[in-house]
Amino acid sequence: MTSEIRILMCAPDHYDVDYVINPWMEGNVHKSSRDRAVEQWQGLFQVLKDRAIVELVKPEKGVPDMVFTANAGLVLGKEVVLSRFFHKERQGEEPFFKQWFADQGFTVHELPKDLPFEGAGDALLDREGRWLWAGYGFRSELDSHPYLAKWLDIEVLSLRLMDERFYHLDTCFCPLANGYLLYYPPAFDSYSNRLIEMRVPEAKRIPISEPDALNFACNTVNIGTVVVMNKASDELKRRLSAAGFDVVETPLTEFLKAGGAAKCLTLRTTEPVLADIHASGTVESRIVRMEGHLLDAGLINQALDLIVEGGGSFQVLNFNLGEQRQSTSSAEVKVTAPSHDVMEAIMSQLIDLGALPRMDEQCDIIWEPVIQDGVAPDDFYVSTIYPTEVRVSGEWVQVQKQRMDGAIAVDMTGNPTAACRLLRDLKVGDRVIVGVEGIRTVRKPESRDTRSQEFSFMGAGVSSERRVELVVEQIAWEMRQIRDHGGKVVVTAGPVVIHTGGGEHLSHLVREGYVQALLGGNAIAVHDMEQSMLGTSLGMDMKRGVSVRGGHRHHLKVINIVRRYGSIAKAVEAGVVTSGVMYECVKNNIPFSLAGSIRDDGPLPDTEMDLIKAQEAYSRLIEGADLILMLSSMLHSIGVGNMTPAGVKMVCVDINPAVVTKLSDRGSVESVGVVTDVGLFLSLLIQQLDRLTYPYQVA
Ligand code: ARG
Repeated sequence: MTSEIRILMCAPDHYDVDYVINPWMEGNVHKSSRDRAVEQWQGLFQVLKDRAIVELVKPEKGVPDMVFTANAGLVLGKEVVLSRFFHKERQGEEPFFKQWFADQGFTVHELPKDLPFEGAGDALLDREGRWLWAGYGFRSELDSHPYLAKWLDIEVLSLRLMDERFYHLDTCFCPLANGYLLYYPPAFDSYSNRLIEMRVPEAKRIPISEPDALNFACNTVNIGTVVVMNKASDELKRRLSAAGFDVVETPLTEFLKAGGAAKCLTLRTTEPVLADIHASGTVESRIVRMEGHLLDAGLINQALDLIVEGGGSFQVLNFNLGEQRQSTSSAEVKVTAPSHDVMEAIMSQLIDLGALPRMDEQCDIIWEPVIQDGVAPDDFYVSTIYPTEVRVSGEWVQVQKQRMDGAIAVDMTGNPTAACRLLRDLKVGDRVIVGVEGIRTVRKPESRDTRSQEFSFMGAGVSSERRVELVVEQIAWEMRQIRDHGGKVVVTAGPVVIHTGGGEHLSHLVREGYVQALLGGNAIAVHDMEQSMLGTSLGMDMKRGVSVRGGHRHHLKVINIVRRYGSIAKAVEAGVVTSGVMYECVKNNIPFSLAGSIRDDGPLPDTEMDLIKAQEAYSRLIEGADLILMLSSMLHSIGVGNMTPAGVKMVCVDINPAVVTKLSDRGSVESVGVVTDVGLFLSLLIQQLDRLTYPYQVA
């Protein structure tokens, strides 16, 4: 039976490391010994000759890597898919291998030009013949996999390589007889690992250690129960022998210098076709279109990166560069993914970047009915902060109540409408959009000039102390504009505002009409009124900066007093609270909402302890905002950020850069982060606003 196995090899007459196309070759150019290489190759040849028929292809000058016949092509039955090498250094081998296959009577399939695929180095048959494992990520393109499925009529399972030391699938993956699999899991992304685990039961998986992997233990030739490799640790030998394999080691260190070993030096040319196995590929492709300042705004890089990071691959079909400073660019990109799920995950991110399906690929949304109150169908599309449109009966409809982390429900009675809905608000029978079909987000391509004048003067980002004054100046100007035009500024504030002495400044802002709504929690209101009633904030004397004896009780006393009056407004009316932020809100009819939390003392009668109601109150107050000023409250700021659509300007001030970064990460150009003490920020802001009001007054 072994006599039926044929293996193709190529003698190392012209072998050397002449160039660098993988990390192993680095530092090894012309460092290998021809004699030792010949001796080691002979060693392998002898081992194999006893167990199979070894055929030889004539070595050619100028193509030193031709010894690695695994990369000649991929054979199944009498069909072969010829390699298309990624690197030009190896492309010279193609005609020689093509000739050899033709001479042996194989049907030779050739991939389209510019579609790299490196043969049996990147495509390994399950040893039971059930399917083909195919690698991509470094040398072979994912787009080549559907061709393999078609020509060889076999199921192709695509695996993504992540570690450039293991650039070919056969350097880290080796299917063995009896359904065993020798492999190095960290060389693959998590999706691929899951796929492997789904197909190969745990008892059959032999994961190897990094040292074994670096000795090319996965680069093994398996004939029956024999496994031939460069070197294996004792542990690996034990593991293999427990699985019924005999390990034959044959040193191939000279070839490791070029990034290859036993398996790379061979190509099995007798791979039987199983009768009842047929093609089924899960690889999917789609074409998307992008438009805008693709280069200036970095959109195209972001899109291509996220495709690759998401486990797909891409081909830029065309790119029209905007020629004038003002003109936008457009591109069409073909996205390929190893499965439908991966494609959907990639597409939903591309949609967020503003990608649209190409005209001829556009279709309507797909919806599913809600069958349990408060629960969306599994595959529901998760909304973002960006203005979104959905395609219903061929028409694009603007989504209402845009916010992130919701579902989109469509109403098709009469003129179709769509709106973002929180999961908890979904009702049985609602139609919720699933998948990614028929959805686009609108990223307005701001013209560059208005962009620079506008609020995004420093782009989305975080500014450090050094730039605080400049930033404050711009914010003051903006707030002044909004007030003069009757716009809306919403402030979210944490208790730190009071601790840092910012209370009087915030009161001033409210009094002067710069604030149209205030959002916070129990604490800011209590601290503020404690300061107004007793001169302390959490028991600290705010004038002298020292803690007052027994001062910690002030906090609870204040809560108790307000509770007695029934609400903050009533305490103000009764003349108990006579100054401060809450006082100004009541006096100036500025609506506020205090959202409760688990740590609240009291709470104040105004604090809403039902969080769903609190969220609703917040989102009502945010509606129509032009600017949201977030002052040192991570909890409330992030909550607010989640409810706010793109286009609303956001300023986040916090001494902790992490909070500021988190908010700026929304990625909308309108958000600005300021890392500084909030008390200091507010005092600068007041100064600037006063300067705008009384410009001729000299300080
Ligand atoms: N120097 C060759 C290359 O980088 C080594 C090929 C090893 N072959 C393999 N099937 N892994 O292409």
